[in-house]
Amino acid sequence: MRKVNVFDTTLRDGEQSAGVNLNFEEKMEIALQLERLGVDIIEAGFPASSPGDFRSVKAIADMVKGSSVTGLSRSVQSDIDTSWEALKGGAEPRIHVFLATSPIHMKHKLRKTPDEVVETAVASVKYAAKFFPHVQWSAEDACRSDIDFLARIIEQVIDAGASVINLPDTVGYITPKEIGHMFNYLREHVPNIHKAALSCHCHDDLGMAVANSLAAIEAGADQVECTINGIGERAGNASLEEIAVALRIRNDFYQAETGLKLNEIKRTSTLVSKLTGMVVPSNKAVVGANAFAHESGIHQDGVLKEKTTYEIITPELVGVSSNRMVLGKHSGRHAFKDKLNELGYTATEEEINKVFKAFKDLADKKKEITEDDIFALMTEERVGSAVAYYEVENIQVNYGTTNIPTATITLKTPEGESLQEAATGSGSVEAIYNTLERMIDSTVTLQDYRIQSVNGGRDALAEVYVKINFDGVESSGRGTAHDVLEASAKAYIDAINRVLNRKLKDQALAKQVKV
Ligand code: KIV
Ligand code: ZN
Repeated sequence: MRKVNVFDTTLRDGEQSAGVNLNFEEKMEIALQLERLGVDIIEAGFPASSPGDFRSVKAIADMVKGSSVTGLSRSVQSDIDTSWEALKGGAEPRIHVFLATSPIHMKHKLRKTPDEVVETAVASVKYAAKFFPHVQWSAEDACRSDIDFLARIIEQVIDAGASVINLPDTVGYITPKEIGHMFNYLREHVPNIHKAALSCHCHDDLGMAVANSLAAIEAGADQVECTINGIGERAGNASLEEIAVALRIRNDFYQAETGLKLNEIKRTSTLVSKLTGMVVPSNKAVVGANAFAHESGIHQDGVLKEKTTYEIITPELVGVSSNRMVLGKHSGRHAFKDKLNELGYTATEEEINKVFKAFKDLADKKKEITEDDIFALMTEERVGSAVAYYEVENIQVNYGTTNIPTATITLKTPEGESLQEAATGSGSVEAIYNTLERMIDSTVTLQDYRIQSVNGGRDALAEVYVKINFDGVESSGRGTAHDVLEASAKAYIDAINRVLNRKLKDQALAKQVKV
């Protein structure tokens, strides 16, 4: 079995999805989970693109030791210098330099001749190789490039020091047959190709990203670039979980494997969906809610007699069975801490104390606490508290089918004061949001509101996602609570807190610049 390296770009290309804006703590949480999943390379961001990206890439490179951490860089020295500053503390510092090679991009975007493009690519790789033990070079829009020009530039960047050559289908244009041909052709026509690993990076504009990635692997690609849940620019990137599971289930055909812990897939997918606010469709392969549901009578009958009649992937393979009850009301702190360790968390004593308290509160209301509940509480603690500004202290809602819904809320301000206000609305959630809007004394437009439960059951935890426009700034927020109204209020305040926190950080940054 040949090993294919998995290069995850959820935190870079995935974060380029419209409407996704992860904060520092969320990026850390995703990076830790990617390490747990066992990805070979984490593309943590684009260090030169913003101070925020620089900070998170550096922190991830310094923290993650089980995966190699990389960052994207344009073919300019200042980007490479910034990337080195961000990545040098990593286990295996690796840079990802890119330059477009298609006629359309060279002419209209770069305004460079093909010779100038070769010169720039070679110079940037040579410069990067002075610092980095691993240099990956990407031919942006490779799949619409002239194949002989590609062969020429690849040969020269390998001579300049590139050890990985990535061939992106930047606009999701290629077909499986064509990408297979491209990889085979380059293997045969680039004399020094054996000195570098070949990588594919497919986008999903025509819905072929996974099929194209698998075709590239079939044609010998050593590395596959992908994102969790297939999130990314426009229609997204190739989905990691679909590629990984296809390679496992059809290893008879592909004769290739990844080093991933497949039973971490579901949890990784849930975390990314939760933090990005990008919902996984129910019918999505491998991680959708219906991926293992058998609906028709004939199918159910078949599965009851013999699972393999209609089930080619077991839910356990991708970690869907974690839904079981794990702790109850009488479980103590010790059992709780053991469970956190078993779930792969290294938590501080302070974190354990806080989440244990939240667990005890939940256990008073909910009979069975599942791994998914603990996971939800832990995520809430780690990424929720990071954006505290206003805090909802108390909510009371008066609702009746013939009454006007009224909410009364107590909110704690950053100065520690308690504010109280009441307002009405046409429904309970609207009453809550009208009250909160009045309290923060600014116009807030609600653009999206979604609610879902953590597992089934009438006593399940509720998770609410909102998108708002507050003071002209778009923001999203999440809230988890046992009650849907409390979760709704928390999500709204979370979205507001994110804007206020960002403003505070910008002010602090501006002060530093002045100094
Ligand atoms: O799609 C693309 O071409 C990219 C490159 C920057 C690697 O994401
Ligand atoms: Zn891309």
